[in-house]
Amino acid sequence: MTLWPLVYSLVLLGLLWSAGKAAYRLLFHPLRHVPGPFLARISVKWLIYHDLAGSRAVSLYAAHEKYGNIIRIAPDELSFSDHTVIKEIYSQGTTLLKSPFYSGLNEGLPNLFDGIDREAHKETRKLLGHAFARSSIIEAEPLVAEQIDKFLDWIKQKEATLMNVYAWFLMLSLDIVSSLLMGQPVGALDSDTEHPYLSNLDNHLIMSGVRWQLPYLLPLTSWIPIPSWQFFLTSQRRLYEYGRRAFDVYISNHSRTKRSSEIGSQMIGGTDTTSTTLTYTAWELAKQPALQEVMRNELRTARLHADSEVLRDSDLEELPLLNVVVMEGLRLHPAAPSSLPRVVPKGGVRLSGIRVPEGTTVSMMNFSTHHNREAFPEPFSFNPDRWLKTNGGTPEMKEPTCHSPRGLGCALVFTSR
Ligand code: HEM
Repeated sequence: MTLWPLVYSLVLLGLLWSAGKAAYRLLFHPLRHVPGPFLARISVKWLIYHDLAGSRAVSLYAAHEKYGNIIRIAPDELSFSDHTVIKEIYSQGTTLLKSPFYSGLNEGLPNLFDGIDREAHKETRKLLGHAFARSSIIEAEPLVAEQIDKFLDWIKQKEATLMNVYAWFLMLSLDIVSSLLMGQPVGALDSDTEHPYLSNLDNHLIMSGVRWQLPYLLPLTSWIPIPSWQFFLTSQRRLYEYGRRAFDVYISNHSRTKRSSEIGSQMIGGTDTTSTTLTYTAWELAKQPALQEVMRNELRTARLHADSEVLRDSDLEELPLLNVVVMEGLRLHPAAPSSLPRVVPKGGVRLSGIRVPEGTTVSMMNFSTHHNREAFPEPFSFNPDRWLKTNGGTPEMKEPTCHSPRGLGCALVFTSR
């Protein structure tokens, strides 16, 4: 007896099932009225494709430009680019919960970033919040200055040679963040070879994306006995191991109780973001020698009144040009550009005038709020001046950059100007 009729029937059934599901999503689904790319409205594969291709931010930005401020990016998922809903989706008081995307980041060790358990998240923020307050950061400034001093020494030593700016900013950020979190750097700036932490960090960031969209792929392939694949798979474990080791030293010095996963994850969260911002801002400045010259003059004047070689926050906070250059760097090249997904709780919510049913994933992207043409005319040009204009600046301009989704590290970022 041939099996072909059975195979044909199964394939036909599969096709009918998929077509029926697509028709339901287009014609009867509660989100059917929300515009968006056709494929995104009928299947989640459109979004998975863009995640794996690394093009989510630019594709969603293009879709927002075409379809408007609220778009459907998967059958059960919406993206917003209207700044008026930032607080409703992301503030501390919101009823929306972080999506399962965040548990993919932590390999089962809960920390402040995942925050899916709201009560535990609130508790941890209460415990750690003071460490991110500006006053605490100012107190820790000498630690930051020490790392910047080391970094400047390397620049002097390497003056006549090419430097990989991104790698060096990563090493600087890693030592600053670890000093702030544990009172001592991991020592990335002690040598001019790349610290192993950094390749583990790259692997971890790639793996988090894969774990989110293809959760079955990593467990399915974890048995493959290829050393480089095994090394790739275990990168996050090594990152947390750095956190644990550093935390052990911290405990032995300070005998305080705190979770090592917290330190490990914040080293991850603070390092890549800061170095990406520094790299892109330096790149923009490299393209504008005239702007560099004005900034140098501003810094030279500040140095005349300063009492240390590395300028402190109090010397820098009133420098108009420096501050707007940092704002413009954060705006034009957001280090966390993509969607920050939240899930609508039981009963649904109303957002930007539309009813969003429970279980829907909603998100905003720094990339689209920061490149909104109404708030930021000519959004793709590096123009720090836009922050100085009192009458030209739009009210939205203050919203996205630092008030953006729970950016706890914001005060830190500004202190590292
Ligand atoms: C330019 C540098 C930085 C950028 C662009 C940035 C961006 C962000 C963004 C967009 C979020 C929200 C994530 C979400 O809700 O899904 C966030 C959260 C967070 N950031 Fe940063 N960050 C930076 C630096 C830092 C640094 C240096 C630290 C600490 C050492 C840090 C620690 C945190 C923590 C703990 C959270 C989670 C807060 C919570 O959910 O309660 N960040 N950051």
